[in-house]
Amino acid sequence: MSELAVRVAAQAKLNLHLRVLSRDESGYHSLETIFHRIDLADDLTIEITERGRTLDVTGAETGPVESNLAWLAARAYADYSGWPAGFSIQLLKRIPVGAGLGGGSADAAAVLRGLDSLSSRPLGNNALIAIASRLGSDIPFLASDAVMALGWGRGERMLSLPPLPRQDVLLMTPPFSVRTADAYRWLDEDRAGVVAEPETILLKSRQFASWDDISKFGRNDFEAVVASHHPGISDYLARLRGSRASFAGMTGSGSTLFGILDSPPNYSKVPEEHRGRITTTRTSIDVVQPIRLG
Ligand code: C5P
Repeated sequence: MSELAVRVAAQAKLNLHLRVLSRDESGYHSLETIFHRIDLADDLTIEITERGRTLDVTGAETGPVESNLAWLAARAYADYSGWPAGFSIQLLKRIPVGAGLGGGSADAAAVLRGLDSLSSRPLGNNALIAIASRLGSDIPFLASDAVMALGWGRGERMLSLPPLPRQDVLLMTPPFSVRTADAYRWLDEDRAGVVAEPETILLKSRQFASWDDISKFGRNDFEAVVASHHPGISDYLARLRGSRASFAGMTGSGSTLFGILDSPPNYSKVPEEHRGRITTTRTSIDVVQPIRLG
């Protein structure tokens, strides 16, 4: 290992609230969402090399390197900053893929933060968010120094909020994944021909101050349409809501469902056939900083 290497925990996110608003001429929808980091993280090691640029992925099948968000983020950072050297990135996947937990986005954000921490002329958080916003919707939040944020636009505009008290989280990843583009299309089809009531809203910061507030306010517009294409979702959600979760929902466009709990879940109450689909973690109270190695 060279002297210049870092380890970065790429924390995943939950959407505690997700409204999909109008679609613009480019076909993209604007959002209103509450992001919250969780401790479940992929593990990245980034090493500066003299020349070659490489990405090695273990732990899950993520397709060709050239389309991996971590790779695209490294290239974008190198172009933007005029990175003079090479890099070698090792990525160990732990976050389920295609699950709405922002796994690929977390990796991209961790690459941006890791490379910037290795640079002799760091760009700083605002520049990282600007690079991130060109790469995908969840990346600006995960590249930021916020633990919890209200996001709007395509997720590149954010208001950082004080993190909620730490809670245990049960994640249930069904045996199918949902393509983001399909979820938006299903929502458009569902809304076609329906004249939407104009919605005006004044959000109050106290609506995001406790888990109780979030459970009264939070909803996910994708939940009903994804459940209509994958009926299993309703069953899993009903189980979570019937358990001692104080708040349960779907994150992103699915398919992972989450339950927020006051204490670690009791596995003996989880039906045997579902145990392999469950991951336990906790909500984060801070952003894990890159750690220098060597
Ligand atoms: O961000 P990502 O590349 O995963 O988006 C996949 C597809 O989801 C886009 O091509 C678009 O059809 C849809 N999308 C959208 N509005 C957003 C984000 C994604 O319509 N804010």
